[in-house]
Amino acid sequence: MSAYQPGSWALSGSESWRCLWWWVLACGVAVGSGDPWMSAEACRSSCSCSSTRISCVDPEPGISSFPSLQSDAEMENITDIYIANQNGFSSINDKDLHHYKNLRNLTVTNSRLTYVSKLAFENNLKLQYLNLKDNNLSSLSWRIFKHLNISYLILSGNPLRCSCENMWIKLLLGEEADTQELRCTEDGGARKMLSSLTLPNCEVPMATVSPSKTSVKEGENLELSCTTSGVPAPELIWKMLLASNYEIETSGQISVLRLSNLSSLDHNSKISCIAGNIVGEKESSLQLDILFPPKITKLSDAIPDHHWCIPFSVAGNPAPLFQWYRNEEVVTEDDYIMTMIHDVTEREYHGCLQLDNPTHINNGRYRLVVTNEFGMDQKEVDAHFMKQPWDDVGPDYYEQPSDTPTVNPPEDRVAVYVVVGIAAVAFTGFLLMLVILKFGGNSKFGIKGCVLFQRIPVEVVSR
Ligand SMILES: *[C@@H]1O[C@H](CO)[C@@H](O)[C@H](O)[C@H]1NC(C)=O
Ligand SMILES: *[C@@H]1O[C@H](CO)[C@@H](O)[C@H](O)[C@H]1NC(C)=O
Ligand SMILES: *[C@@H]1O[C@H](CO)[C@@H](O)[C@H](O)[C@H]1NC(C)=O
Ligand SMILES: *[C@@H]1O[C@H](CO)[C@@H](O)[C@H](O)[C@H]1NC(C)=O
Ligand SMILES: *[C@@H]1O[C@H](CO)[C@@H](O)[C@H](O)[C@H]1NC(C)=O
Repeated sequence: MSAYQPGSWALSGSESWRCLWWWVLACGVAVGSGDPWMSAEACRSSCSCSSTRISCVDPEPGISSFPSLQSDAEMENITDIYIANQNGFSSINDKDLHHYKNLRNLTVTNSRLTYVSKLAFENNLKLQYLNLKDNNLSSLSWRIFKHLNISYLILSGNPLRCSCENMWIKLLLGEEADTQELRCTEDGGARKMLSSLTLPNCEVPMATVSPSKTSVKEGENLELSCTTSGVPAPELIWKMLLASNYEIETSGQISVLRLSNLSSLDHNSKISCIAGNIVGEKESSLQLDILFPPKITKLSDAIPDHHWCIPFSVAGNPAPLFQWYRNEEVVTEDDYIMTMIHDVTEREYHGCLQLDNPTHINNGRYRLVVTNEFGMDQKEVDAHFMKQPWDDVGPDYYEQPSDTPTVNPPEDRVAVYVVVGIAAVAFTGFLLMLVILKFGGNSKFGIKGCVLFQRIPVEVVSR
């Protein structure tokens, strides 16, 4: 840009600068790194905002909800919000903190906080430090924090009730409850240490899945039951992602899950039963072990790598045995030819028949046979490791399979494209500069104002 002097555009004074500005904008050229239209004025008058922190401590004029900054990007950069002395601040609702994705520290203190919604921190997965000291909270649900990893929770100075709903706070904080001098208020108005809170019929439920271990053949049915205990009566939920069909029947404290026609796709899937009440939740789970015959899901052409590799993927449980044949003769595995498993996923084994320096003697039709006690599968592939001796042999010991046409290494072509591209850009720039210099000085096109610049391309075309 610096090559084009504003003077050569035959414009004068502030107008030319305005147009230069306009033109730069229209061209979409970024100026510097800062965006001059982004206002930092979204910060409310009781608050002060930096790029990572919002702090609202002035009681006047005060705020009743979290400030929201101009853009999502600005809010995403905030890690710390500090709110104090706000008489009108009484609730944290579902979406209030939605955009503050990177929030780590939240303090709301000496305000009137009375209600925190269950989804208040749904989007704040990094929240670690939560200080709600000296507010008007009488209860708080554990479900608000279920998905979080809170290291500090400060609740002192709130009129917490001595109710079952708050029992989880005692269980979570342990001795820390005494350090914070957390107290709760009984129905009659008496206050006591939260750590000494005991209530009948107020406990974390249990969950037990049975059987706890099982091996079932593909296509068969399986019945699992989950039993729970605990008061208040918990709710039972099964959590799983299955390809097999299932139905659930729950009555009282027992839930039965009936899986039918088990699919091998569900091998190693996890099934969980979760029992939850207002005090907390427990989970019990089992991993499905589904027995099924092997299946070769992939067998492809040999590829040269460090070694040559005939890649395969095979599913099967228990682990199948591998046997290779070349032109119907058993391949005896040794240091030079061997089956290597590189990766084991939930239900598949991925690997190679690895060949070290194969020659044309190794060429042929390879057949893979996989077996386990439930069945077998087989597949074939042609492998060609070297040109025949009467072909024109290159310097390499082994070459690409001969049916693949030889091409230049891609790097060479890329280099050519880059050089041609640079030349084209430079030439276009040169032409553009000529045009601007020529018409810029020509009074025929010297119409005042920005029109000059908008007309240039049109006039060039009409010539
Ligand atoms: C967010 O923070 C990053 C890195 O600190 C900074 O580059 C970026 O400009 C900030 N974005 C906003 C909108 O403040
Ligand atoms: C969060 O606040 C605590 C206490 O004020 C402070 O020690 C800590 O450094 C803060 N953490 C972050 C990530 O700002
Ligand atoms: C405190 O919370 C209670 C409900 O738990 C409400 O009735 C009361 O008005 C609140 N007090 C203030 C000062 O907000
Ligand atoms: C939770 O935080 C602790 C330390 O604060 C850390 O060691 C642990 O890995 C975290 N867990 C998750 C699930 O983020
Ligand atoms: C069981 O599932 C397989 C596919 O997974 C399907 O082909 C078969 O028809 C099913 N059998 C019954 C009895 O539903």
